[in-house]
Amino acid sequence: MAFIVTDNCIRCKYTDCVEVCPVDCFYEGPNFLAINPDECIDCALCEPECPAGAIFSEDELPDGQDIFVELNQELALIWPNITEKKDALPDATEWDGVEDKLEHLER
Ligand code: SF4
Ligand code: F3S
Repeated sequence: MAFIVTDNCIRCKYTDCVEVCPVDCFYEGPNFLAINPDECIDCALCEPECPAGAIFSEDELPDGQDIFVELNQELALIWPNITEKKDALPDATEWDGVEDKLEHLER
């Protein structure tokens, strides 16, 4: 079981999550972060840190977010590791809370 980054991270990418991860298992794409599920130790520290509420335990995923299990696994293997917080995307506040942003995911 791992924690999963879900839809509301897309186009926000606040990156507060990476600061608390004890095993540095976040990976950065252009407008989304992915957690490597094979490295995540299920500590739950990142979940409350996300201002967008985009991180969930795999067994507590909201309806419609199952696709992000595969996406986190796939993208974490492609993207570079990120271990330090950086500025959120410039229009993060406008996109925070917009539903179904998957079509905006950049790889
Ligand atoms: Fe990292 Fe813990 Fe979050 Fe997993 S649950 S991504 S180990 S902070
Ligand atoms: Fe994304 Fe939340 Fe981290 S918006 S980058 S999962 S703090």
